[in-house]
Amino acid sequence: MLTIADLKQRARRRVPKMFFDYADSGAWTESTYRANEADFAAIKLRQRVLVDMTNRSLESTMIGQTVAMPVALAPTGLTGMQHADGEMLAAQAAEEFGVPFTLSTMSICSIEDVASVTTKPFWFQLYVMKDRDFVANLIDRAKAANCSALMLTADLQILGQRHKDLRNGLSAPPKFTPKHIWQMATRPAWCMGMLGTSRRTFRNIAGHAKGVTDLSSLSAWTAEQFDPQLSWKDVEWIKERWGGKLIIKGILDAEDARMAAATGADAIIVSNHGGRQLDGAPSSISVLPEIVDAVGDRIEVHFDGGIRSGQDVLKALCLGAKGTYIGRPFLYGLGAGGKAGVRLALDIIRKELDVTLALCGKRNIADAGPDLLYKAPGKAAP
Ligand code: GLV
Repeated sequence: MLTIADLKQRARRRVPKMFFDYADSGAWTESTYRANEADFAAIKLRQRVLVDMTNRSLESTMIGQTVAMPVALAPTGLTGMQHADGEMLAAQAAEEFGVPFTLSTMSICSIEDVASVTTKPFWFQLYVMKDRDFVANLIDRAKAANCSALMLTADLQILGQRHKDLRNGLSAPPKFTPKHIWQMATRPAWCMGMLGTSRRTFRNIAGHAKGVTDLSSLSAWTAEQFDPQLSWKDVEWIKERWGGKLIIKGILDAEDARMAAATGADAIIVSNHGGRQLDGAPSSISVLPEIVDAVGDRIEVHFDGGIRSGQDVLKALCLGAKGTYIGRPFLYGLGAGGKAGVRLALDIIRKELDVTLALCGKRNIADAGPDLLYKAPGKAAP
């Protein structure tokens, strides 16, 4: 397996359809999901020749933390349904590789589960529910687990509709209807893994939140519990309660970027939630330059959405991102081969990033800039 696309194919064969589709879906027509990838493909690189290519380095920092390459694992829901104990395995792979792992609030393995199998701090992504005691408690649990950044997701107070999930009857754990039994029975290795773990529900929530009725349907649960009134004012108390590095995820507009910078957060992530929220919104990469122009001097700008190769990582860095995130690429690796699959996804991205940087005539990732692009969008060729 040489590419993220290879891992995706393998994952499709190993993961029950409803969970594979959950990862591989966008909202409504999926036009934004597709644009995220297509707009990367349209950006061309500038080939440079006969430059010294020895001693190359991809090491960088994100929010002041050293990273082996500026590519973190994005928070993704239900990761422990792609593979048994998925979040724990992905966190270990990220730790060994030297990049941050971000645990989603909507994970299968809990904050404490992940902390129990890692030695370095990971990051925790926060969704804000109406039950503020529960949210405060989640923040405190992340602190107690020594998480080194809190990532507040700003673009999911209500869930975008993903047709595949509704048609598949997505739930965690899966229901035992003939359709779902068939989906699982045709994925025996996945079933064996799941039989070998007790982690099959949303363990950050189950047993912690009050009045939880049926957690199994993500769409019903988010509609019932997530706080649709969440506003910029709430960032203040969250920041204060947390008291550490804060990243605001889901910024797609320069005006919102300015508001985010004004909160005193440490970083924003330019993101449309992988095309899973507002279908019809622009691709992340197409708005990155204007957001960097608006706030890049005040706050670290990170990026996610559509990265499927190390070349995409380089393009995002050249357009001003200080760090990037991969969601689906690591989920495909996880589904394809557990921890080794996540490691392989990271290795693939690293190799592509390293070779591309060299063929663009640079040796240090800090030199990634618009001059590596053949006509940066909106600019004349260098
Ligand atoms: C959760 O964050 C999702 O996009 O499903």
